[in-house]
Amino acid sequence: MSRIAVLSGDGVGPEICSRAVEVLSSVCRDFVFTEGLIGGAAIDAYGCPLPEETIRLCRESDGILLGAVGGPRWDREPSHRRPEKALLGLRKEFELFANLRPIVTHAPLISSSPLRKEIVAEGIDILIIRELNGGIYYGPRERKEDPSGCVATDTEIYTTGEIERIAHTAFRMARKRKGKVTSVDKANVLESSRLWRETLESIAGEYPDVILEHMYVDNCAMQIIQDPSRFDVIVTNNMFGDILSDEASVITGSIGMLPSASIGTGTFGLYEPVHGSAPDIAGKDTANPIAAILSAAMMLRVSFGMMKEARAIEEAVRLVLEKGYRTRDIMSDGCIQVGTEEMGDLIRRNIVAD
Ligand code: IPM
Ligand code: MN
Repeated sequence: MSRIAVLSGDGVGPEICSRAVEVLSSVCRDFVFTEGLIGGAAIDAYGCPLPEETIRLCRESDGILLGAVGGPRWDREPSHRRPEKALLGLRKEFELFANLRPIVTHAPLISSSPLRKEIVAEGIDILIIRELNGGIYYGPRERKEDPSGCVATDTEIYTTGEIERIAHTAFRMARKRKGKVTSVDKANVLESSRLWRETLESIAGEYPDVILEHMYVDNCAMQIIQDPSRFDVIVTNNMFGDILSDEASVITGSIGMLPSASIGTGTFGLYEPVHGSAPDIAGKDTANPIAAILSAAMMLRVSFGMMKEARAIEEAVRLVLEKGYRTRDIMSDGCIQVGTEEMGDLIRRNIVAD
């Protein structure tokens, strides 16, 4: 038996998480799902975005499935009570320092990509590995009044140890893929980036079978659009990874397709779609549940070693897309538009047990 904490959160979170839970239940009867509150939902119930109860639930679980947090209702909360704080808290609490964001094109969706067909036609398969426990997200910050007005500071901090552990994750993953790591930094300007680059260099020798290249983040932002198929594994800091992964996500047609895993050194992980809470479409049965469902597949593979079941889910997603079913965000001519619930049902029904 494995215990999964389900933190649906806000906006479209609950409807997409339900679909992912149904899919997980259909491939394995041994999961016990327990719901916990996070984000705005937790602020409403407990007055804080990441209650102790939720942390305890996660600690007693083998994996976390998360929907999304945030929404306009909580936008005026003071910074320590913003829904997003919960996500940062969870990542830190469980030392989930490596955020894996696979950017993979699905052949039936090539025409939904904003890039020209010939750029994406051969298929894109990039793994963005974003450092998730350090950098400007967690460095000291301050706001103070000055005679000239207000002064606000955020600080980008990285230690050698933090860079080393994410570098090892990147090299190890590249080894199982095409064997290339692109490390993205801004070493022409930032001291923390110079340390980043030196540290990657110092570790590269342990992985002679992997090619390491360095790229400045501005150049990388451009290359992702111009020639995405040149990348295999991209490893970068917390802030650059946040931005580059949203940019890269649309190459696949919609951010609604992209799953993610946040892991540390063990098998415990947090799995969530890359997209946000989309409050404008919440409760309307239009959100795309595929990112959540593919996140569940990543959970099976990464936390539970259930490769066969993970592949069966991914294959079902492929089949459903091939048959022409689309949620609104990926709709195109000649396809059949379905809602969140129906997309979930279709994927479940197309899972082939072997
Ligand atoms: C993400 C999100 C979060 C981040 C926000 C909601 C705090 O944008 O997971 O990419 O910036 O990490
Ligand atoms: Mn983001």
